Amino acid sequence: VRAPYPLPIVPPTQTLAQQFAQARGDAGLAILEGFHALKHALRFGAAVEAVAATDADALERMAAELAPDLCGRFRALARQVTSAEIASLAPHVPRTGVVAIARRPPFDAARLRAQRDAPIVLLEDPRDLGNVGAAIRVAAAAGAAGVLTSGQSDPWDPAALRGAAGLHYALPVGRDDAFDPGDRPLVALDPDGDLLRPASVPADAVLAFGTERHGLSDALLARADRRLRLPMRAGVSSVNLATAVSAVLFAWRLHQPPPGDS
Ligand SMILES: C[S@@+](CC[C@H](N)C(=O)[O-])C[C@H]1O[C@@H](n2cnc3c(N)ncnc32)[C@H](O)[C@@H]1O
Repeated sequence: VRAPYPLPIVPPTQTLAQQFAQARGDAGLAILEGFHALKHALRFGAAVEAVAATDADALERMAAELAPDLCGRFRALARQVTSAEIASLAPHVPRTGVVAIARRPPFDAARLRAQRDAPIVLLEDPRDLGNVGAAIRVAAAAGAAGVLTSGQSDPWDPAALRGAAGLHYALPVGRDDAFDPGDRPLVALDPDGDLLRPASVPADAVLAFGTERHGLSDALLARADRRLRLPMRAGVSSVNLATAVSAVLFAWRLHQPPPGDS
């Protein structure tokens, strides 16, 4: 009987533990931890190279309930492992008992810049990978064109993938310290900017958000075409980075003609 989807190719001499250890150091690969990360990766076309699961039948039951479009995929891909084995593959064993390796799609900054019907999110030197993941997740939900980061944090770190529930595969995500917005307006989100009105977020904007503690750099603020602020109650100095991304993207999104979803 042929499997409905191609089975992962594992070099016969390599154990799963070796494969995962190697993948963690490979900038072309991503580690997916948990059912939801794997679900989104599969749904948005990830090339999955290995899946280890403590209970493949339980994954299929979850798929039947939460992702019927993917029924059969988990059993076809998963290699059954024990609890001890999965603990050797991932420092944070997800409650859903599944970890996977997938290819990172190539990132093309020029192609991203050319997509002008939705804003690009630029996170300047974000430090908290949970924030990076949450920003990517909401950017995917709101229909942003892509998410760029600068600085040291890798937006494809397994912790960011956990925070994004694997939605890196739904839109371009990459790191670029020298991103050139071209002729797209560069909009700095800054608590000291002008009051943001939904109509003041251009669809082709590059929306720049600053690092958690210090905000946007002087260099970026100087380059920005506009500085906008979210209104806040007196006494509150700023909101969390990912919630700022969410508020601004949905201000833009809710100002658009209905996209035909609910
Ligand atoms: C935690 S805040 C940084 C706080 C920093 N002390 C500052 O004053 O910018 C992280 C980022 O979220 C965005 N942000 C937070 N609150 C905001 C607000 N009220 N208006 C616009 N952007 C905001 C900004 O881009 C900010 O750089």
